[in-house]
Amino acid sequence: MEKTTVETMRFLALMVALFLAAPAAQSWSKEGHIMTCRIAQSLLDEGPAEVVRNLLPDYAEGDLSSLCVWPDQIRHWYKYRWTSPLHFIDTPDKACNFDYSRDCHDPKGTEDMCVAGAVSNFTTQLLHYHHGTSDRRYNLTEALLFLAHFMGDIHQPMHVGFTSDEGGNTIQVRWFRHKSNLHHVWDREIILTALADYYEKDTELFLKDLQNNLTQGVWSDDISSWGECEDLSSCPTKYATESINLACKWGYNGVTQGETLADEYFDSRMPIVMKRIAQGGVRLALILNQVFGDQKHHHIPPPT
Ligand SMILES: *[C@@H]1O[C@H](CO)[C@@H](O)[C@H](O)[C@H]1NC(C)=O
Ligand SMILES: *[C@@H]1O[C@H](CO)[C@@H](O)[C@H](O)[C@H]1NC(C)=O
Ligand SMILES: *[C@@H]1O[C@H](CO)[C@@H](O)[C@H](O)[C@H]1NC(C)=O
Ligand SMILES: [Zn+2]
Repeated sequence: MEKTTVETMRFLALMVALFLAAPAAQSWSKEGHIMTCRIAQSLLDEGPAEVVRNLLPDYAEGDLSSLCVWPDQIRHWYKYRWTSPLHFIDTPDKACNFDYSRDCHDPKGTEDMCVAGAVSNFTTQLLHYHHGTSDRRYNLTEALLFLAHFMGDIHQPMHVGFTSDEGGNTIQVRWFRHKSNLHHVWDREIILTALADYYEKDTELFLKDLQNNLTQGVWSDDISSWGECEDLSSCPTKYATESINLACKWGYNGVTQGETLADEYFDSRMPIVMKRIAQGGVRLALILNQVFGDQKHHHIPPPT
């Protein structure tokens, strides 16, 4: 076997071991979602990879990442208007923490209607795949696309932001020379600037570098902790809590209305964006491997 294959397998074995060891228990831009989904799909075990291919419509040609932005495209259609609050979480201004029962609801107050609730919801739905019920209450193709997308969103720090500024959307800034807003800087500007400055605008090169860092680079040491969480309800809470903490420490910190953000902001925030994309991908793979894996050996405790 090639060296890289061995390393990938070692990495996979490590991830599986780590996950089993803890049993008790608007969005990234197009580019961000695509990378999250590409990373996830590359880390799937054989069985789960096949289930994913089966659930994807033919025109996706087996490529999950080609449909990972679908939930952003349909969120304003009448039929899917209910999905609109599922892309983010509004937390109280300056609180810098996430409290599921306080914060996970839509503007009307309907419980669970936020990105953390959505991750649990669609994970639970996908568990029906193996139960083989002919009960077709759920469209599992859609559940897969929603889960893959929302795992990206929940890792974008500014998707768990403050209520009054709509996660930074109302904070107008300049990104180098053009107009933008703080939310968009995190959704897209940082990624596009990184692509232009370091990767010849080639997403493939970007992805290769990211995957390298996963297997043998800067993150290989702390990857072990990425899979640690108790169950279907505490995992999304952990991801959302990380996001609001990052939003406070790196997103909002020191940024004022009308300010110009440039090199200094970019250089210090880029590594965080990369890491969040990678974490979203690794964790999506963990979830899909669990949900679609051999049910005899895996057990996901139901949400409480
Ligand atoms: C869960 O998904 C169903 C549709 O399959 C939807 O009606 C419900 O609102 C969703 N809830 C959350 C919290 O995502
Ligand atoms: C499930 O959803 C997909 C995407 O919206 C759609 O193309 C497909 O027809 C749906 N399947 C069923 C059985 O409704
Ligand atoms: C990978 O790690 C190197 C070294 O720390 C860093 O310069 C680079 O930006 C990282 N790339 C990605 C995509 O994370
Ligand atoms: Zn989104």
